[in-house]
Amino acid sequence: MPGKNKKVLIVLGHPEPNSYNAALAATAVETLEAMGHEARITNLYAKDLDARVTRADFTEARNPDFFAVMREQANAFKKDAFVPAVQAEIELLQWCDGLILQYPIWWFGMPAILKGYMDRIFVPGVAYGRGKWYEIGPLAGKRALVSCTADCGIEAYSPRGRYGDLSVLLWPIHQALRFTGFDVLAPAFTGHVSDGDEARAAGLAAHAERLKGFATDAPMDFHTEDDYADTYTLKPGVKGKTIGQWGE
Ligand SMILES: Cc1cc2nc3c(=O)[nH]c(=O)nc-3n(C[C@H](O)[C@H](O)[C@H](O)COP(=O)(O)O)c2cc1C
Repeated sequence: MPGKNKKVLIVLGHPEPNSYNAALAATAVETLEAMGHEARITNLYAKDLDARVTRADFTEARNPDFFAVMREQANAFKKDAFVPAVQAEIELLQWCDGLILQYPIWWFGMPAILKGYMDRIFVPGVAYGRGKWYEIGPLAGKRALVSCTADCGIEAYSPRGRYGDLSVLLWPIHQALRFTGFDVLAPAFTGHVSDGDEARAAGLAAHAERLKGFATDAPMDFHTEDDYADTYTLKPGVKGKTIGQWGE
């Protein structure tokens, strides 16, 4: 998406409207709109979205006797059979050409409601399927940023930090976003979240500064189809270049 006037969707996974995370989402809207982009927040808790994929996501059952989630989702995509709450989120995801996932780190992962959002909205046809994945995935050409928070500083999430390298922690989500085609930016981390007003103002200012490069920053490097053998492994001699793939 490099360039101006982009449509950015911020998916907020935090239960408190006045949280630091909500403030980071509001800062993102303000910063991106000041740059000429259009930005919207989808507030998962405010919408009371279920974290679980259930049959309630669909207006019809392809197979009422056995709930095969992927098949039901593919069927619903084909037949316009998602309930309005799911369909609305799918349309927002398709509307955007930039996505920001904004959430607090909970148990070294994302809040369940945000994981549920991905389980329920990143469905076949919308985010993957029919051999379309990674660089040719349905969401190719869009860019995504994971923006997460913690009470500690980034040192705790450094390679020798107590909690380990942030990129290791985020590998599954980065991989999921790339799987669907997104260009994935290096993550935004806001720490010291409980350190008071001054630290909060500094954190919000740093986030605004970081987002100035949202439309233009070079994305992270992932392997492409040419690097893989039929065995789903890197071809001999191709050096692993992501945090999840290493060695020769
Ligand atoms: C359920 C839960 C699990 C948490 N797990 C982690 C964790 O694994 N690592 C961490 O650094 N902080 C963890 N925290 C702290 C939050 O990341 C931190 O309080 C949050 O980022 C602050 O943002 P907020 O003020 O917007 O809530 C956890 C907090 C909660 C409530």
